[in-house]
Amino acid sequence: TARYSVAVLPGDGIGQEVVPAAIEVVEAVASLHGFTVDFREYPWSCAYYQQHGVMMPSDGLALLARHDAILLGAVGDPSVPDHVSLWGLLVPIRRAFDQYVNLRPAVLLPGVRSPLRDTGAGIDILVVRENSEGEYSQVGGRMFPGTPHEAAVQQAVFSRRGTERVIEYAVEQARRRSGRLTSATKSNGIIHSMTFWDEVFRDVMDRHPDVSGRLVHVDALAARFVSHPHELDVVVGSNLFGDILTDIGAVVVGSMGMAPSANLNPERTAPSMFEPVHGSAPDIAGRGTANPVGQIWSAALMLEHLGEPEAGETVLGAVRRVLEDGEVRTPDLSGTATTRDMTDAVLGALRSVAVAR
Ligand code: NAD
Ligand code: IPM
Ligand code: MN
Repeated sequence: TARYSVAVLPGDGIGQEVVPAAIEVVEAVASLHGFTVDFREYPWSCAYYQQHGVMMPSDGLALLARHDAILLGAVGDPSVPDHVSLWGLLVPIRRAFDQYVNLRPAVLLPGVRSPLRDTGAGIDILVVRENSEGEYSQVGGRMFPGTPHEAAVQQAVFSRRGTERVIEYAVEQARRRSGRLTSATKSNGIIHSMTFWDEVFRDVMDRHPDVSGRLVHVDALAARFVSHPHELDVVVGSNLFGDILTDIGAVVVGSMGMAPSANLNPERTAPSMFEPVHGSAPDIAGRGTANPVGQIWSAALMLEHLGEPEAGETVLGAVRRVLEDGEVRTPDLSGTATTRDMTDAVLGALRSVAVAR
């Protein structure tokens, strides 16, 4: 039987609460579908930083590289500056393993209430976020510190190859779905990198006449996520635009706690990483009430990536069933259930979903 090795990084805050839930679900579905997942947990986090002065050991990336995939919770705690914790763990992993696609579905599931009034037409958006460069560059810094002229400069770095490859990936997704691709831009803002992004987008679209491409200013696009989400399908955007649009997407489909993500190395030259869109949620951490769906769904995307798409389907089917039944809901979905309750409900639904297939 197939055997997969997965590195687990629960991280901080509610990451510690939702990651165990996802592991239980994966273990259950693996036994139903007849494969094995070996989980190896690494304690790298802000707590680890407090003890060791680093977010991960110097051979951290080498250790992760040995696994077939990485399941991550969230990184970040108020006790450590975010630029230290995130640039010490999450961002280096995305880069070192060339996870240049961050795939972020925003799907309104039956039984989940969107804050929007009219969702009759359904919401099923797939954001393809550039994940390796762009606005998230380390080029820049502080000028004239400590003087009245103090300033900070940030260089956004958009390479032709980096832009092209993520748009190509998005085209492929669009081809499998509606055949429409929307690109987030801000070329009207006199931003050099965005006129470049648009140029590359047009070049790529010229090569793929079967997919229709459209450029939408990101400010207007953010509004469309709220006003006309049912009209959106595949959306491609830069690192920062994709980040912002996917938090909007998450709440539009019910909650920050619902949205999954896959940090993909499409060429599979290194492990890919699966994590929810949300963060460590220090405001609710420790209560045991975090919604585990985003994490469980991320694990389902991981199963698909590992070559077990049926198991991924089973997991998503179980999540759907629980939400459709509507009896077990965490507080973010206006219920009173705990993380434990929700996990138990998904585990219970797994068996019947797998049998019904
Ligand atoms: P957040 O996503 O952690 O929280 C935003 C809001 O959504 C909070 O009110 C929170 O309670 C709620 N929320 C998030 N996930 C939820 C869940 N599963 N169930 C119920 N409610 C949920 O964003 P933030 O507050 O801006 O960031 C907190 C920390 O997490 C920061 O340190 C930030 O840098 C970090 N962060 C990490 C990641 C990551 O590791 N991938 C992602 C985003 C933010
Ligand atoms: C995300 C997060 C990260 C990002 C932060 C915490 C660095 O917001 O994964 O969406 O901006 O990529
Ligand atoms: Mn984000």
